[in-house]
Order: sequence, then C-alpha cells, then structure tokens
Amino acid sequence: MTPDDLSALIRSRRSSLLIDAQREVPRTVVEELLELLTWAPNHKRTWPWRLAVLTGDTRRTLGESIADVMAAQGNDAPKVEKTRAKYLRSPLVIAVGAAPGDSPERTAENRYAVAAGVQNMLLAAHAHGLAALWGSPMRGANAAINTVCGFASDTEVLGLIYLGWPTGAVESPGRPAPDVNWL
Ligand SMILES: Cc1cc2nc3c(=O)[nH]c(=O)nc-3n(C[C@H](O)[C@H](O)[C@H](O)COP(=O)(O)O)c2cc1C
Repeated sequence: MTPDDLSALIRSRRSSLLIDAQREVPRTVVEELLELLTWAPNHKRTWPWRLAVLTGDTRRTLGESIADVMAAQGNDAPKVEKTRAKYLRSPLVIAVGAAPGDSPERTAENRYAVAAGVQNMLLAAHAHGLAALWGSPMRGANAAINTVCGFASDTEVLGLIYLGWPTGAVESPGRPAPDVNWL
C-alpha cells in the first residue's frame, strides 16, 4: 500500500447507516475487524477493549434495555419506541467498551486506546466495502448496556457500532483544514 492509497482509504471512509439489515457479514470478517482494533496504541499494554457482537434478537434486547432506561428518565414515548428497534437497522452491532485503569489518568489512556482501536476497525471495515456508523451510547444507559453485553459493571461503553453492507453512498462532510501551531 502506498501513502496515497492509505490517504484515499482514510478520506473515503464515511459514517453511514445506509446498511442492508438483511445481509449477513461473514463472521471471519468481523473477527478480523475486532482483531485489528487491538493493534491500537495502548499505554502500559492494558488491553482495555471490551467487545460484544450483537446479532439476531440480541440487537432487539439491546434496544429494549436502552429504551427502558429512556422511559424511566421520562423521555417522550415516540423517542423511546423508536429506540426499541433501533439496533435492527444493521445485521450486527458491535458494542465497544473501555476498562478502567488504576488511576484517572490511566482510565483516560485506556479510553483513548479503545477509541483509536475503533478507528482501526472502521477503516478496515471500509476496506472490506462495509458501511459502519459509530453511535454514541444513550446517556444513562451504560449499566444496561454492560448487562446486555456481558461486560463488567465498571466498563465504560464508548460506542455502539452499526456494521453491514452498504445500500448507498453518503456524501462527504469534508473537513476544515487543521488549525496547527507550527513552533
Ligand atoms: C465518539 C463518536 C460518537 C458518535 N456518535 C454518533 C451518533 O450517536 N449518531 C450519529 O449519527 N453519528 C455519530 N458519530 C458519527 C459522526 O457523526 C461522524 O463521524 C461525523 O458526522 C463525520 O462524518 P464522517 O465520519 O463520515 O466523516 C459519532 C462519532 C464519534 C467519533
């Protein structure tokens, strides 16, 4: 791969929910994506990523659990009901969590490592021709997501990532030039 190839891959990756919910992604591909996530830089080699792959009915279980939290928080009924089926929009959803460290600084470093790993995964998914979207976990639903995903209760859920085969293309939002202080 040339630097230009890598630049093109990075620039052409998009967040997209234009996903065929009926078309399965081969498990071997998903396994490869998850393994590539682990090649992120990771201070102290704590291997902090916590991963769960939700397919079939577990996607609905996830939505139901989060919706129940939203209902308890007093969210509007339509919003709550929409959430129940939200994760059925792709054939699989990857929940990504970060384990805490032994200090606030290490916990932050773990979080950064996992986020870097997610980008590895998103780029690799794009290279496979897959569409993906990093969705933020609903505020207040961390404990519920941990339970559904089988994560330890102190796991911080960083994202719920929709993954599947694209049904269309998303226009690039572009990027402003980086504001860099050259010193
Ligand atoms: C931490 C994080 C959380 C995100 N959460 C959401 C989300 O909840 N819903 C959503 O539609 N997009 C979400 N996104 C995707 C961004 O909206 C997207 O990256 C941005 O619009 C730029 O588009 P691009 O990724 O195609 O360049 C998230 C991205 C990140 C990094």
